Amino acid sequence: MTELDELARRRGFYFPSSETYGGVAGFYTYGPAGAALKANVEDAWRERFSTEEGHVEIDAPTVMPEPVFEASGHLDGFDDMLVRCPECAESHRADHLVEDNTDIEEAESFSPEEIAEVIAENGLTCPNCGTELAGEPVEDFNLMFETNIGPGSDRPGYLRPETAQGIFVEFPRLKEYARGQLPFGVTQIGRAYRNEISPRNAVVRTREFTQAELELFVSPGDPGPETSEFAGIEAPLYAASEQGPNGEPELRDIADAVSDGTIGSAYIGYYLAAAREWYERVGLDMNRFRFRQHQAGERAHYAADCWDAEADVSMPGEDPEWIELAGFADRGNYDLSKHAEGGADDFTVFEAYDEPKVVETATVDPDMSYLGPEFGGDAGAVAEALAELAESDRSAFEGEEVEVDGEVDGETHAVPVEKVNFAVEEVEENGEHVTPNVIEPSFGVDRAVYAALVHSYEADEIDGEERDVLRLPAEVAPTTVGVFPLMDKDGMGETARDLAAELRRAGLDAEYDDSGAIGRRYRRQDEVGTPFCVTVDYESLETDTVTLRERDSTAQVRLPTEELVGTLAELKAGRTDFEALRERHDEV
Ligand code: GAP
Repeated sequence: MTELDELARRRGFYFPSSETYGGVAGFYTYGPAGAALKANVEDAWRERFSTEEGHVEIDAPTVMPEPVFEASGHLDGFDDMLVRCPECAESHRADHLVEDNTDIEEAESFSPEEIAEVIAENGLTCPNCGTELAGEPVEDFNLMFETNIGPGSDRPGYLRPETAQGIFVEFPRLKEYARGQLPFGVTQIGRAYRNEISPRNAVVRTREFTQAELELFVSPGDPGPETSEFAGIEAPLYAASEQGPNGEPELRDIADAVSDGTIGSAYIGYYLAAAREWYERVGLDMNRFRFRQHQAGERAHYAADCWDAEADVSMPGEDPEWIELAGFADRGNYDLSKHAEGGADDFTVFEAYDEPKVVETATVDPDMSYLGPEFGGDAGAVAEALAELAESDRSAFEGEEVEVDGEVDGETHAVPVEKVNFAVEEVEENGEHVTPNVIEPSFGVDRAVYAALVHSYEADEIDGEERDVLRLPAEVAPTTVGVFPLMDKDGMGETARDLAAELRRAGLDAEYDDSGAIGRRYRRQDEVGTPFCVTVDYESLETDTVTLRERDSTAQVRLPTEELVGTLAELKAGRTDFEALRERHDEV
């Protein structure tokens, strides 16, 4: 357990669930501090990626029926590679075993047979008991949790492995709310479930987790935003072509990387830039952050381009440990096309042309009084086959007879051309039905929370005393302000309690604490990342002032009590900073 995990348990950020019954790997409970931090991170995501973008948010069920996942491809292909130890029977994720013990960086793109060979060639052993794994089969293991819907077992269902499917299946209704106008975006923040082979690293890889996903539906020909919309935002970009044992990401302006084709879509560039700013806003250290492009073999076959946001979450003194925080994919029209095949509704959008277009269409109007006696029960099918042929090959109608080759009962049927009534007509069309493409920024909320905790954690020394501190931004910190009486006597306790209540009524997370020495109370708040503490002392009772202390600098100012609510709201929103307060008020 790292110092951070220890702090997370002790101070109520997160801890393994159901431990009283022995617990089960891959499930974590967020305690009071963690739940507040996670909710604040979700709110910051909603504000940036839903409200600010003008998108709509939905809340779909987490259990979905089997046909959804047949269509989406999860039933057949949502697998990880599993290898079991022949001695202790422990299951391991085979690609992770390879990545952890060889120079191979992206083993996910290998086939199970290739992974089995790498395991044998490198003499890899079971991390649990040390037994050689050479010769053990590497199998695909489907990650979805199956259940039965209702009594009996004739209606299988699955816990959704991503929130995205809840958006895709509702597209026929959602497009109505968007009045059929592309582009439009739909967001969802909710639970997803994956039966991970080896959950690890606290909340980084769990079996139940929270995603914040945005599906942007765009017209197939839409080139995306102008790069000027996100120019000037730099981030380390680790392009697929640069990845390898000595590869290094390059700090680049994201807009330039779109212009020179390193990033394949202006929409992806736009979201990478927005994500770069958002991760900094919720507390990630931009020196431990990068975007990595998927290698061709790693990418889903339908995805045109895909980048991950990654963070190094190693603790001080350890080797870097990069984890995926979010994926940004250009998914083409794969998802909607698949649900159009599997579902009963229309997954297209009608797009009007700027000007009506005159197009030639080839039609047939077969003489059924001829086709009926001639082909009997096959007459209808022959007529349909003729109509299809007119659309696909007009030259078939140039001779004296038209042959419908093998289409009906596998036989060739010949029809005299004068019985077909073939014609080419000019018609005016106002638009066409298109299947939108999908651009998908998909964020893991738990990993954002975890990375914010790792990056904000520091052990330092104040007045010769060690303290653990979480330098979380005020916007996401579980508690905004700790409120203390110097002592709970002579009216200081009542004044401080009233003040805490007033701050809460104003929408600020305030925690009252009167136990122990004031220094210890500061340390307790530092440990959970509370950015400010207010103290009511004897002078407060005489002059109606309080002291306000900043966590990071530990500096304190004295200010009128009546200014406290407004000042803290400004500090939390980032509209002012403590330096400005130090200039305006007396330092203590
Ligand atoms: N709809 C696309 C999708 O689900 P993904 O890369 O599989 O893409 C998106 O998942 C994000 O969800 C990841 O970047 C990660 O942050 C988070 N995530 C995925 N599996 C997770 C797990 N087992 N535990 C915690 N977070 C997970």
